[in-house]
Amino acid sequence: MRYTTFCVGLLLAGILYAQPEGVIYDESKVPPYTLPDPLTLISGEKVRDAKTWFERRRPEILRLFESEVYGKCPEPLPTMRFQVVEQGTPALEGLAIRRQVVILFNGREDGPQADVLIYLPAKARRPVPAFLGLNFTGNQSVHSDPGIRLCRSWMRPSKGPEVVNNRATEASRGIAASRWPVERILSRGYALVTAYYGDIDPDYDDGFQNGVHPLFYRPGQTRPEPDEWGSIGAWAWGLSRILDYLETDRDVDARRVAVIGHSRLGKTALWAGARDQRFALVISNNSGCGGAALSRRRFGETVRRINTSFPHWFCGNFKKYNDREDELPVDQHMLIALIAPRPVYVASAEEDLWADPRGEFLSALHADPVYKLLGTEGLPVREMPPVNQPVMGTIGYHIRSGKHDITPWDWEQYLTFADRHFKLSRASARSASQR
Ligand code: GCU
Repeated sequence: MRYTTFCVGLLLAGILYAQPEGVIYDESKVPPYTLPDPLTLISGEKVRDAKTWFERRRPEILRLFESEVYGKCPEPLPTMRFQVVEQGTPALEGLAIRRQVVILFNGREDGPQADVLIYLPAKARRPVPAFLGLNFTGNQSVHSDPGIRLCRSWMRPSKGPEVVNNRATEASRGIAASRWPVERILSRGYALVTAYYGDIDPDYDDGFQNGVHPLFYRPGQTRPEPDEWGSIGAWAWGLSRILDYLETDRDVDARRVAVIGHSRLGKTALWAGARDQRFALVISNNSGCGGAALSRRRFGETVRRINTSFPHWFCGNFKKYNDREDELPVDQHMLIALIAPRPVYVASAEEDLWADPRGEFLSALHADPVYKLLGTEGLPVREMPPVNQPVMGTIGYHIRSGKHDITPWDWEQYLTFADRHFKLSRASARSASQR
């Protein structure tokens, strides 16, 4: 009897753990839903050719994501300036040339600014293709290299000595190195370009009084309108400003820049790649709700949950869809479709149920008709592939074993995917690293 009670208790605890109240972690509890068709115009007409896609449907979908999900972003200010504070220092035992640039978003040294760290492969023939991604803990956290400028912006407190009084300390050098296999990226012939996301907009809900938002307020305006950018919009906009800089840097091939991000920054990378067609390739790592995962499935994190925990990430209008996902005029497969025909890679992790791996895969799958219409290979499979078996067409996908994270194994797949699409053969990368 006691044993039975114990077992029932265990079972209950298991159920509660696996499925906290209101959160769906069970496929059989996913509600039935119908996705909006990326290839049907609002008028009801079908999209049958690339011209109709680019001239009519794509702008329509982009406008819906702007007004209902992420908010509209402004044009950059004409006064924006780039300060190259370190032109090129040999680093990482001869493997890299380190360059650091400050983007002054309104041209003023006392205004909002982002420190950009660039590692160029020392021996590759330039201009080189690049990976560009924002980081969570400051540029100095991506590698222990003592030459990286220490981040000066507001940062969330850490458990240890890495952040004191909301500022990064020397102890934070290299703390995120497992997420940034810098030497590997360089030896495969790519530059790595990164900046701290909080330089663009600090990640807390302050009513948009800091970061880049206030630079764009009209007289009397004190916060973005319901259809104007939240923080994800600002971070994505910041990625475009870094690309503006890269277009002026002769050592980087700005036509071969892959934008990459993990988690909330994966959502950001997708939105950056969707808005700005200069990004040649887009990588979403475990981006989940508001990223690659379909909102209508309500599996794991939902629209209500994300709008409640992170009210500053999306635009004001997105809150209308709390518990009303079916009323959204778009779903996240259409975000991926906006990237077409450019290569996009969606990655999930097996234990990352909060981000809904299956919902992430389904977005890639349901974006496929647009990729096919535009004459590309699209996604080569119809079913979710087994764990740790990547599939790579114009759309790539994998589900890795393990937790919510970005690992060297994930990066290996992205490098291979980029090689394939940037037509950089392994042989030339190898000879570059040996030269
Ligand atoms: C939370 C949030 C996710 C987000 C993640 C992250 O878990 O709910 O939406 O992706 O943080 O950015 O780390």
